[in-house]
Amino acid sequence: MDLEQVEILFDREQVMTRVKELGQEITNDYQGKNLLVVGILKGAFIFMADLVREIDLPLEIDFMDVSSYGVSTVSSGEVRIVKDLDYSIRKKDVLIIEDIVDTGLTLHYIKEILKKRGPRSIKICCLLDKPSRRKAEIIPEYVGFSIPDNFIVGYGLDYAEQYRNYPAVCILKPSVYEK
Ligand code: IMP
Ligand code: MG
Repeated sequence: MDLEQVEILFDREQVMTRVKELGQEITNDYQGKNLLVVGILKGAFIFMADLVREIDLPLEIDFMDVSSYGVSTVSSGEVRIVKDLDYSIRKKDVLIIEDIVDTGLTLHYIKEILKKRGPRSIKICCLLDKPSRRKAEIIPEYVGFSIPDNFIVGYGLDYAEQYRNYPAVCILKPSVYEK
């Protein structure tokens, strides 16, 4: 990790402690259900890999990749499905795994699409939540950490596709992107 570019917000140990707690909570809540864990690529891949190993239940895994329309910095909330789920979610208890909920527009859109496919339930689990930035009414059922409005990288999260491999959840120093 290049500590001239990032500042550690939660180290690997703090993250794993919280991921274990979330796994236990989910294990309790989904007893006897038909759990399908849906990861939103690419940001959720590391969080999801750790989280599912802390869920002590039979479950299935699928992935979805979406991208925002256009290149504007202002998110319209209109997303395009780049990779859809491989299987039907009919009668499944869908748990969406996301790296971070910011405006909430992306997840709002994904939820609307998935609702139409007849799942038994849909809930959201995110590693990080920036509630101060919300534009769409999205309240994740499971939140790792609620954080102020900083730009985060590491543990799967990127800036221009970099830093996803950093093991800690880090704040990207503004000097990196304000150049
Ligand atoms: P939303 O639609 O504004 O909630 O955007 C959510 C998506 O924006 C996340 O899945 C991330 O890919 C990206 N994003 C939002 N905030 C950050 C951040 O601080 N670091 C890295 N990616 C972010
Ligand atoms: Mg993302």
